[in-house]
Amino acid sequence: MSQTTQRKLAHVDICLRKKVEARAKGPGFGDCEFVHQALPEVDFSKINIERVFLKKKLSAPFVIEAMTGGYTGAMKINEALAHSAEEEGVALALGSQRAMIESPALIPTYSVRAIAPSIPILGNIGIAQISRYGPARISTAIERIGADALVVHMNPLQEVCQKEGDRNFSGFFKSLEKICSGISCPVIAKETGAGISMETAVKLERAGVAMIDVAGAGGTSWSAVESYRGSGETEFWDWGMPTAQSVVECSQKVKIPIIASGGVRSGHDAAKALALGASFAGAALPFLKKVNSGGSKSLIIELRSWKDELKAAMFLSGAKDLNALSSAPIVITGKTAEALRARGIDPKKFASRQL
Ligand SMILES: Cc1cc2nc3c(=O)[nH]c(=O)nc-3n(C[C@H](O)[C@H](O)[C@H](O)COP(=O)(O)O)c2cc1C
Repeated sequence: MSQTTQRKLAHVDICLRKKVEARAKGPGFGDCEFVHQALPEVDFSKINIERVFLKKKLSAPFVIEAMTGGYTGAMKINEALAHSAEEEGVALALGSQRAMIESPALIPTYSVRAIAPSIPILGNIGIAQISRYGPARISTAIERIGADALVVHMNPLQEVCQKEGDRNFSGFFKSLEKICSGISCPVIAKETGAGISMETAVKLERAGVAMIDVAGAGGTSWSAVESYRGSGETEFWDWGMPTAQSVVECSQKVKIPIIASGGVRSGHDAAKALALGASFAGAALPFLKKVNSGGSKSLIIELRSWKDELKAAMFLSGAKDLNALSSAPIVITGKTAEALRARGIDPKKFASRQL
């Protein structure tokens, strides 16, 4: 088994067995509260949560975030994720394709297009790999799995915590620009649990990415995962920008759509993320746990409850569709408000806006 394959297997195993979520701080959604509307003028049964993602209509603005592929057991997980995503009309992101690029025998562990013919499927590669493989090999990897877009993940926290990690990120902005202009599908830039600041978001937009997935702090901690994998107790367990702050920072500074992920744990959290400026919301760990414990059946039930919670939050805030939700008043307090103020964004404008 190659080192890449062993690592992928260990990551899923650790995430399922150990406590890997943030412990000193959350994603910030607890600081955000919708303004309750006692007279909402909305018919719950007519609330529309459909949204177009990469030219395909989703029945809800949800993404099953990138997790796995590249070892035999991954096939079962990806098939269950794909079946659930197709059934519920949400987007599916696959795990890093590095393993299948290094070893083409592993392509079937990512090949779920036949199970999910109608939804957006996202391929995935690490920023450190894009200059190594170049646009041609990456394009082939995307075509092999029939993906609609390439997610490029940036994971400096994980790399710096890994004994064998890539610690030289210089020149990666140029590699990202090259991949954006050198492949035919859209590129989505994504963190893996430490968030994206407004300064980085501006650079990413300039590099030509089509969307940003903030993958902020407050959910799965990759320094925690690496500490279980042998790097020892870590000082950086809770490092990173919480998701709520990251969504506000990015959406205030760039025009491209934002995906909110990292500690999003319910349809209510998703509603808050959408009100803060995201166009889509996603999760990884909770969905992995669902397919592990009860297969696609459990994940389908979970996705349905997310849809119901999203609609309930919209009903109670007076938003009949997702466009209205993006201007529903939401009060930001606590550390998230403090952090936003310190970064030059006035949280009051979210509380005082009108539907
Ligand atoms: C088991 C597991 C494997 C992951 N593998 C990848 C990966 O290959 N590529 C990637 O971009 N993100 C990967 N992630 C990160 C997630 O996509 C996501 O950004 C992060 O876990 C935060 O979301 P969460 O708090 O909902 O888990 C993985 C997450 C988990 C739980």
